[in-house]
Amino acid sequence: MGTKHDVLTEAELASYSLNPVVADTIATFRETSGLEPSQIRILDWGCGRGRSVAVLRDQGYDAYGVEIDEATMRNGFALFENRGWQPSRLLMLLSDLEGVPNGSFHLIFSEQVFEHVFDLEHAAREQARLTRPGGLGIHCFPGALGITEDHLFMPCVHWLPKRTIRRAVIQAMLALGKGPEGGWIETRGKPRREQAQVYYEYLNHRTYYRDTAAICRLFQAHGFTARSEVAGMSTRARRLLPSYLRRNGFPNNAVRLHLMKREL
Ligand SMILES: C[S@@+](CC[C@H](N)C(=O)[O-])C[C@H]1O[C@@H](n2cnc3c(N)ncnc32)[C@H](O)[C@@H]1O
Repeated sequence: MGTKHDVLTEAELASYSLNPVVADTIATFRETSGLEPSQIRILDWGCGRGRSVAVLRDQGYDAYGVEIDEATMRNGFALFENRGWQPSRLLMLLSDLEGVPNGSFHLIFSEQVFEHVFDLEHAAREQARLTRPGGLGIHCFPGALGITEDHLFMPCVHWLPKRTIRRAVIQAMLALGKGPEGGWIETRGKPRREQAQVYYEYLNHRTYYRDTAAICRLFQAHGFTARSEVAGMSTRARRLLPSYLRRNGFPNNAVRLHLMKREL
């Protein structure tokens, strides 16, 4: 599987599949709305190189993506062009959204994005503007209290304050052999202390873990009904946990936020 630094290829796309929760939500919307896929407009928020947009277009949906990082997004352009799709129309930068009319989308989704969004208030406001009444949102992201941090593959480092204690623990984890397999490109060939600094800065400046209840309240304030659920643990075992742990993905991460834009 390629990374955001690699150009998206047909071979990589062939082995990629849409998040099953997102796929289910889209399929349910299709059934209940009675619309054909080509009539259903979907936006992938934080689309990366556009893999999910391409998969949904293959299935006949009118799918688009929006990204904050232009370099990442451009790594999907060649594949879109080779398929006769206009990448600059289908894959947009966050700043391009201003020109997109209100209520343009039936459904907005994201996969592993909310934990990276610095300005979630802006995302909620824009998603409320862009979703038509009765339209849906489905967002899958790691909870703030999952034991393993999803990007560094280290336990609990995201629970620590964004201060030197966090860097020290990351360095200790590296010494214990924890961390991304093979290391990130940015860390290769560097001594452990400098590797720890790279991971520390990433965690501090590229991740914003929040309480799921606060995320729900934010979207409710912008006109959505919001419901969160956590995957991967039997309901009985989960009931024993305090709600703060439960809703934030303890112990095994995956949170799903289901939204519906209230009718006016
Ligand atoms: C882990 S990647 C996931 C990419 C894609 N959803 C996928 O599953 O392949 C997170 C993406 O969210 C993007 N991102 C972060 N903040 C964003 C924001 N405020 N608006 C749109 N995209 C954002 C990042 O640039 C990055 O490409």
